[in-house]
Amino acid sequence: MNANTQPADLLAPYQFGTLQLKNRMVMAPLTRSRAEPGNLPSAMAAAYYSERAGAGLIITEATQASPDGQGYVATPGIHSLDQVAHWKQVTDAVHAKGALIFMQLWHVGRISHPDFRDGQLPVAPSAIAPRGVQTYTAEGFKDIPVPRALATNELPRVVADFRHGAENAKAAGFDGIEVHGANGYLLDQFLEDGTNQRTDEYGGSVENRARLLFDVIDAVSEVWGSERVGVRLSPGGSFNDMCDCHPQATFGYVVRRMATLNLAYLHLIEPAITQGEHPNADLSASFFRPFYPGTIIVAGGYDQQRAEEALREGKADLIAFGQLFIANPDLPERFRRGAALNKPNPQTFYGGGAEGYIDYPAMNAEQSEADLEAHPT
Ligand SMILES: Cc1cc2nc3c(=O)[nH]c(=O)nc-3n(C[C@H](O)[C@H](O)[C@H](O)COP(=O)(O)O)c2cc1C
Repeated sequence: MNANTQPADLLAPYQFGTLQLKNRMVMAPLTRSRAEPGNLPSAMAAAYYSERAGAGLIITEATQASPDGQGYVATPGIHSLDQVAHWKQVTDAVHAKGALIFMQLWHVGRISHPDFRDGQLPVAPSAIAPRGVQTYTAEGFKDIPVPRALATNELPRVVADFRHGAENAKAAGFDGIEVHGANGYLLDQFLEDGTNQRTDEYGGSVENRARLLFDVIDAVSEVWGSERVGVRLSPGGSFNDMCDCHPQATFGYVVRRMATLNLAYLHLIEPAITQGEHPNADLSASFFRPFYPGTIIVAGGYDQQRAEEALREGKADLIAFGQLFIANPDLPERFRRGAALNKPNPQTFYGGGAEGYIDYPAMNAEQSEADLEAHPT
């Protein structure tokens, strides 16, 4: 359901399908590389996520649906019973604070290393290595080798792994799942022609390149119902050495087809204005809005002012914040009060312990008072 009839206020509730959000702020999926042995979510994860449950919707860090899908050290999984039990603590803590939480499911494809794969090569649509990209392993940064192209008869297994992850996410108490189709990981690698040079029914035309993505969407929708499945895309993004010759056509096709599926939402990462192979092509949410009447989440460098503008323009229904949510556990409350924001520290984004994870301060009482005087509500 589109929200055009609902107040376009960042802090106003938002209803879509059977889901009711307390506001239009989304915590973006954020890899923090703090998982524990067994790729269990960190013992601190329940505190980290529940501190940020002022958001209407939280999307978890990217989580591998199978051991095969891992590409960085200490990212959590959702393929073992232990992982399900640990994630259940996270969903319980978030629900106790009144937010909803979706799990982002991924397979990294070529952005991996034999260290994560019992010495085997990473897999991809085609044997093309990302240029100038490294991954972070237990022994530090390592170059990524040329991947092995997946055989056609291996693809049903990839789809089955996503389905299994979706089933486990349900058992762990999530409210839905987000398929990670963005940022140059496996599903995006299939979608874009710079990484997909296959000659089977998963390569060539855009219909073929999108086949694996839609196979996955169909499989996880059987588990959850499509209205609990969101999909993240990064049209025109160049992260992880991605490119597509006709991004408006490729992503236009995908978005139009998604519009027929009654999904929970479409989540778009907008390319930074100065980046990407196609600086002149409009790949913003505004370009896709006419094709997609359902709920759109947009991400990419949003602050309060830009977020409110985006809602007023109607280019998106919900706004995702990444780095601002890392640094400000109480971000919605700070916006409500017009309070100053903590600055994110990139040195502590990935790995380590509590520092930079659960020690960013919430506003204290004095700060709140001062802000209220400056910006009476
Ligand atoms: C530390 C960090 C980790 C991220 N991890 C993920 C991830 O796991 N999945 C994903 O789809 N995007 C990931 N992103 C991208 C963010 O979700 C978001 O799209 C991006 O940071 C732009 O939003 P911002 O400007 O509000 O931070 C990550 C970004 C950062 C900074």
